[in-house]
Amino acid sequence: MRMYDIIKKKRDGYALCEAEIREFIKGYVAGEIPDYQVSALLMAIFFRGMTDEETAILTDAMAHSGDTVDLSCFGDLSVDKHSTGGVGDKTTLVITPVLASLGAKVAKMTGRGLGHTGGTADKLESIEGFCTSLSGDRFISQTEEIGIAVTAQGGNLTPADKMLYALRDVTATVDSIPLITSSIMSKKLAAGAKNIVLDVKMGSGAFMKSEADAETLARKMVDIGKRCGRNVSALITNMDRPLGSAVGNSLEVIEAAGVLRGEVKGDLYETCVALATEMAALSLSLSPDEAKRQVVDAIESKAAFEKMKQWISAQGGNSDWLSDVSLFPKAAYSLEIKADRGGFITKMDAEMIGTAVVILGGGRLKKDDGIDHSAGIMLYAKTGDKIEEGDILCTLYTCNEQSLSAAADKYREAIKIGDEKPDTIPQVVKILR
Ligand code: URA
Repeated sequence: MRMYDIIKKKRDGYALCEAEIREFIKGYVAGEIPDYQVSALLMAIFFRGMTDEETAILTDAMAHSGDTVDLSCFGDLSVDKHSTGGVGDKTTLVITPVLASLGAKVAKMTGRGLGHTGGTADKLESIEGFCTSLSGDRFISQTEEIGIAVTAQGGNLTPADKMLYALRDVTATVDSIPLITSSIMSKKLAAGAKNIVLDVKMGSGAFMKSEADAETLARKMVDIGKRCGRNVSALITNMDRPLGSAVGNSLEVIEAAGVLRGEVKGDLYETCVALATEMAALSLSLSPDEAKRQVVDAIESKAAFEKMKQWISAQGGNSDWLSDVSLFPKAAYSLEIKADRGGFITKMDAEMIGTAVVILGGGRLKKDDGIDHSAGIMLYAKTGDKIEEGDILCTLYTCNEQSLSAAADKYREAIKIGDEKPDTIPQVVKILR
């Protein structure tokens, strides 16, 4: 089988057969197929698309291109979630203890932030002592004992995705639905959970800007996951503004703990309850109504907060910080930004707000950049809110005083204030099962 013929077949609009797709992935990971030929094939896929059958085979081939995690010891109780990336998205910190407190098994691999979106591993490392690199044995035994373990993705999971993603990034082939579907679902399949809930973001801070695109991507990912023997559902959720009030690592941990202490409601609470409900329904075989009742009860009874503390301690973190958040180190500098006119916030560009946090030191532009865990933004007004001239809209936090003015400019560029109350999209737009 020649790579040339595979490229030509896809270029001419034909579906690739199973052997061709598997050979391509195997040959690429083995270093036998050069980047230039793979780039050509990716561009042909970008223009010609892939059938559901092709996408499922590609996903499976990528999922098995390296190590896989075996969670079969947890039977049907293992559950995972994936978010397509957002700003202020700290839902994993809230949801995983909720699920563990209800008896599900959450053995979760997580990533670091890059560009304008944050990563759960960075957020967790803002807690003194927290260890994000667990050995394979510890990952399983901790999940067995307390129902929850979260580790930064290491080892040789889905090398095909790492190689393809790097190439897509520099060949303008990222935004292709079959390529995104196979990239995300291969990682989820390799991570081993029987039940998977996908949080597909739509809006200004998301990959998918429109509801139609978000729904197409969500539908494909659900169908592929089911074809591969997993229970999968997807929620399409609002990322037209940052989620919650905090953006930045330690600020987000503090806000997440606030949800589990019963002190934080609003869009963050609503999104967490919706995602946790779906995860509980799948992993514990509950009706959606019963799942929601149990999720809300786990939060209100503080059972999930106690589980969060148990989890943080189990991974070496100082769980006292969750009860007394004044223990988190403070940023050395802060700046309040005030409204220069009254009206309504009509628009917030979530991506730009994420970029403002990167400028403050709370995110990274390159993989190996360091991070200031205390840097970030607290938002006091979001899209749709009425404000008066002089109201404090947000506070910027950083340890690098020089960054404040550029971050303030970026924040001001991100928001629009107008006279009319804008229509806002619902927090949970749709659930696909
Ligand atoms: N996230 C991924 O993991 N892969 C993609 O292709 C796009 C977003």
